[in-house]
Amino acid sequence: MSQVNADFFSESVQSDVQSEHRKYVQELGEWRRSHSCGELNAADTDREVCLMGWVQYRRDHGGLIFVDLRDRIGLTQIVFSPEAAPQAHESAHILRPEYVLAIRGRVRPRPEGMVNNNLPTGEVEVVVLEWKLLNTSKTPVFPIEDRTDASENLRLTWRYLDLRRPRMQANLQLRHRAAQSVRRYLDENGFLEVETPMLTKSTPEGARDFLVPSRLNQGQFYALPQSPQLFKQLLMISGLDRYFQIVRCFRDEDLRADRQPEFTQIDIEMSFVDERAVMDMAEGLVARLFRDALNVELPLPFPRLSWDEAMQRYGVDKPDTRFGMELVDITHIVRASSFKLFASAPLVKAMKVAGGEAFTRKEIDEYTDFVKIYGAQGLAWIKIREGEWQSPVAKFLSEDERVGITQALDLRVGDLVFFQAAEPTVVNAALGNLRVRLAQRFELIQPNTFNFLWVTDFPLFEYDEVEKRYVACHHPFTSPAPGHFERILSDPASTRARAYDLVLNGNEVGGGSIRIHSAATQRDMFAALGISPELAESRFGFLLRALEHGAPPHGGIAFGLDRLVMLMAAATSIRDVIAFPKTQKATCLLTDAPSGVSPVQLRELGLRLREAGNVSGAGKLA
Ligand code: AMO
Ligand code: AMP
Repeated sequence: MSQVNADFFSESVQSDVQSEHRKYVQELGEWRRSHSCGELNAADTDREVCLMGWVQYRRDHGGLIFVDLRDRIGLTQIVFSPEAAPQAHESAHILRPEYVLAIRGRVRPRPEGMVNNNLPTGEVEVVVLEWKLLNTSKTPVFPIEDRTDASENLRLTWRYLDLRRPRMQANLQLRHRAAQSVRRYLDENGFLEVETPMLTKSTPEGARDFLVPSRLNQGQFYALPQSPQLFKQLLMISGLDRYFQIVRCFRDEDLRADRQPEFTQIDIEMSFVDERAVMDMAEGLVARLFRDALNVELPLPFPRLSWDEAMQRYGVDKPDTRFGMELVDITHIVRASSFKLFASAPLVKAMKVAGGEAFTRKEIDEYTDFVKIYGAQGLAWIKIREGEWQSPVAKFLSEDERVGITQALDLRVGDLVFFQAAEPTVVNAALGNLRVRLAQRFELIQPNTFNFLWVTDFPLFEYDEVEKRYVACHHPFTSPAPGHFERILSDPASTRARAYDLVLNGNEVGGGSIRIHSAATQRDMFAALGISPELAESRFGFLLRALEHGAPPHGGIAFGLDRLVMLMAAATSIRDVIAFPKTQKATCLLTDAPSGVSPVQLRELGLRLREAGNVSGAGKLA
């Protein structure tokens, strides 16, 4: 395990050595690379080669100096030998980690016993005949190795060094292969790549907008797009038929491991289609992506689950189906229970943890605290022991109820059952999320499995308790299900949407819908959302007018590219597959963004800050 370099902090010592060595730095001149550092093997023996890269390690062995030279492709061992090239050897003592070199030399097999089978170039080494120092380097704050104890903040501050680590290089290469594969597939299927504006008007996807003040139109603001949703619909109205874009989206929302304030979508829209056509195309795309980038064949078609069924069985709308532990509705079994909590709750669900009988009180308390995040008041439990049910609540359950629960959950001695009794949203969120947590904790999940599934038939609306009104579950341009148009205004809660999400291993990796293509329906939709005709006109007038000019039926989908690549790379955060990501606090530690601006810039924009204190750092830019 490597250590963060203590040496780094002794700046003065380092810069002395560095500046001393700088006098040896040479120009590249006519030198050209013949090979990468990852491709030489025994077949290249005796070949004269020219390699360039960074010093990974230097080892001095009785006369010989060995250096592992690194580039994006790999590592090659190079040898400075006093016999082969005395001058080259003589000067090699200055080499330090991360110095940049060009070498000319001859490939030879490594001696017996020195072959490194873990390295593609491990059969050979290159004896240096001539070399140039192209640049020196300070000692990096952390060694350039996969295994590191550097904190993520340190890695983000020194991101260009972090990106030299093989793991990060592999992630970016995977991301590149993924993007190229997507472009090929969509091009072959008749999609046109079209760019849409970044300085635009707000498109509601449920997050806050990032705003950009306009200098030429003072007091007015552009919004950075939360997605190109409205533009891609306009492109269908323009007759483009099939559009795609690998595009940056901006959302000012609370950040998590799978959320960044700017992230990338594979954004797609198609004309004259129903949901099947979009989903078939999307499956083809994902299958191709996994084949090209990972060499994995995905079984098609992906399973489809209605939103109702997903909520019933898994408690969440993005179920992880790599393990069981499904939730079981036992409301009907305990309806007349003498346990008041169970008898009176709108919904009672149970979840069996096979072998969970061994849980300690402390562990159960921990899970009780966990479900409180989701609004649960508590977490009832029963341990199934030989001849007895051990539990604070078992004594309230009648024999019939015990038999009913045993059958419903197929209980065995050694199991533990968790119960949740409350409003459906709380019951589902609490047990659904506990299910995932337990699976992670007990490693019930098979590694290297990719379980895709579609969740369909979402509700069109959800009730926002804070705003006291209905909001669109997907976005306000999603079409109601056939036959549900009339209900938009009269019975919003029961209206279903022509929307679908693509889920991979419990992560939402894509979502889309068939759109409303009638202006009248779109107006009704705005009304159902509590948007007045005036507001609808001022915010979405351009869309309403476009819909009145021969809008074809259309629909589409957007995939979260960062999330897909994160899961393909088995990374735990999307930050690991984004070259220059933001922290949880939406800051860039490398460039120090966001930062203050000068009073001059503010004045040009017609802005004044409410608290003068916020102008700190302004001097830098003035
Ligand atoms: P949606 O809002 O579902 O749909 O976004 C599509 C996909 O983008 C990814 N995603 C994110 N990834 C990282 N960080 C974020 N903050 C973030 N937010 C979303 C998710 C999600 O599934 N315009 C519609 C698509 C459509 O209807 O065609 C839209 O943006 O993987
Ligand atoms: P109490 O009667 O409050 O002591 O609760 C008895 C048991 O039920 C405790 O284990 C609580 O954690 C649990 N409990 C409390 N509220 C709920 C609820 N809404 N759903 C499930 N279990 C609960």
